[in-house]
Amino acid sequence: MYKYLLSALAVAASVIATPIEERTTTSTCSPVGISPSKASAIKAAFTSAKVVPDVVPSIDPKVDLYVAYGQKEVKLGNTFSAAETTQDPVFNFTTESDYDPSTTKYLFIIVDPDAPGPEDPFLRQFLHKIVYDISPSCMPNPATTTEGGTTFVMYAPLTPLSVASHRYTYLIYRQPPNFVVPPLQLAEATRAPFNLQQFVTEGNLTLVGGRFMREGLGTTVTTGPVKDAIQKAEAALANLKLTPSQRAALDKAIAAINKLLGI
Ligand SMILES: *[C@@H]1O[C@H](CO)[C@@H](O)[C@H](O)[C@H]1NC(C)=O
Ligand SMILES: *[C@@H]1O[C@H](CO)[C@@H](O)[C@H](O)[C@H]1NC(C)=O
Repeated sequence: MYKYLLSALAVAASVIATPIEERTTTSTCSPVGISPSKASAIKAAFTSAKVVPDVVPSIDPKVDLYVAYGQKEVKLGNTFSAAETTQDPVFNFTTESDYDPSTTKYLFIIVDPDAPGPEDPFLRQFLHKIVYDISPSCMPNPATTTEGGTTFVMYAPLTPLSVASHRYTYLIYRQPPNFVVPPLQLAEATRAPFNLQQFVTEGNLTLVGGRFMREGLGTTVTTGPVKDAIQKAEAALANLKLTPSQRAALDKAIAAINKLLGI
């Protein structure tokens, strides 16, 4: 929490430190878009890690999405520990050249395609967060601060129920004008399996950027917020309607994790 506050202050300080001229003389926001080399690196990494097609059918980045936990940036498949991801990440993104940043809104989403474990991800996608009606970061109150956007699904700390790593994926979608947030179609208090593509189609959303990282449950995580978060997630999973074999697989995964945590 303390670390998170510090990083929020750092973001606020960097916004204040931006010269006034730079923020007011440009009719379009800057920076705009994403460099072709960065866009193709994202495309290539999403494809080689199979985030395309396991999360999205394709990606052709139009904006540069930045995501970080504290000071540690989510890049393209770098590794995090569960202890590093108990608090909301901060994020920001550039604007699109053909869309007015003062009127175009965006939706940010975090999903896990590898739940409960990558060998049999029958809880794909596991939903970790949705915020909508976000303005690009050059506008007042972007969602890097607590005022920006509307939280639809609160952040659930990442709780991989496997030692094998999961590909946590961070996506930014452009909303159409008159966007209405589609229903989630999830059972009460559960976050999986979430049909991302159905949600995207119903909301007429356009994917404009993304990042992903990897996180499994390390053997060192035995106390504190991670343990609490995992126990919360396990309790929520009890409500899921599953086939008997899926329930058995989930119970086995939970038992292995509980053993690791000394529960
Ligand atoms: C996003 O935040 C990072 C870290 O504070 C900063 O370096 C970058 O310029 C920001 N990008 C935008 C588009 O605001
Ligand atoms: C969906 O969005 C696109 C552009 O964002 C727009 O051209 C199209 O008319 C929209 N369709 C519906 C059904 O809202």
